[in-house]
Amino acid sequence: MKTSIGFLGAGKMAEGILAAAAAVKGFNASRVTMAEKSPERARYMEKKYGVRTTASAAEAAKAADVLVLAVKPQDVASVAAETKPYMDGGKLLISIAAGKTTAVLRKAFGTKARIVRVMPNLALVAKEGMSAIAGAKNATEEDIAFAERLLGAAGKTVRLPEKAFDAVTALSGSGPAFYAYMEQAMADAGRELGLPAAAAALLARQTMFGTAAYLRATGANCDDFIAAVCSKGGTTAAGMKALSARGAFRKTVSATLKAAAERSAELAKV
Ligand SMILES: NC(=O)c1ccc[n+]([C@@H]2O[C@H](COP(=O)([O-])OP(=O)(O)OC[C@H]3O[C@@H](n4cnc5c(N)ncnc54)[C@H](OP(=O)(O)O)[C@@H]3O)[C@@H](O)[C@H]2O)c1
Repeated sequence: MKTSIGFLGAGKMAEGILAAAAAVKGFNASRVTMAEKSPERARYMEKKYGVRTTASAAEAAKAADVLVLAVKPQDVASVAAETKPYMDGGKLLISIAAGKTTAVLRKAFGTKARIVRVMPNLALVAKEGMSAIAGAKNATEEDIAFAERLLGAAGKTVRLPEKAFDAVTALSGSGPAFYAYMEQAMADAGRELGLPAAAAALLARQTMFGTAAYLRATGANCDDFIAAVCSKGGTTAAGMKALSARGAFRKTVSATLKAAAERSAELAKV
């Protein structure tokens, strides 16, 4: 990547994106500037990745062609105030700040900067992230393609209109917590059946992970897969009968995502 990149905030998500980009051939850490408030965090990033750091967001904005906005949503306004004078038409702003719409970002950073909004998830830290990408009106095809390459190094990407972002936030943004809840429920249920806690935790984790890997490797449809593994009168069929009784599980999952999407819509108004 020849483009110079500035990160506004060097927290967990910024590090995940940087670590994935750093593993791509041709990536040049000397073209990366990270603005970070915490001096310890900045030193850690310098040492581990060989990037330049600064305490000033304005400094990073001046230095870079592409800026990745990776501070918490409540810090976006102050970072925008610092960097707005440097956001001309030559800059691309890729925002991962949850709930900050391109309209809000345009107001905060000015109308000149080209903006691409991304909703990633925490799994990008393990290079298995899921990122939805939407360009603002003034973003070019190259801008969106650049965001796809950057986030694509840390997992999968999908282009979606911005109006889909509350649903995306509910499904893939908040999804890792819901998935972990299911894994914990499986492990706890294993313990109730008499398994030692550590073994139950291992069995649950590897089963969830292994099934996800199998489904992805085979491209299997979930309903077909379930039908194939539920032999008549067998153990899986008995378990599935309990799991699907009265549609209660599906209703709970549906209510879970609805609640998360509604909250996402509320937060976008703040
Ligand atoms: N974590 C997720 O699963 C997830 C998923 C989707 C989207 N996101 C979005 O990703 C963004 C980053 O999240 P994160 O979890 O990586 O947050 P984080 O770990 O808190 O990282 C943000 C970093 O930015 C620093 N910072 C704050 N204000 C600054 C300023 N003015 N100049 C320079 N640095 C500044 C913070 O320092 P201090 O700690 O000292 O304030 C912190 O180190 C958020 O907007 C979030 O909505 C996160």
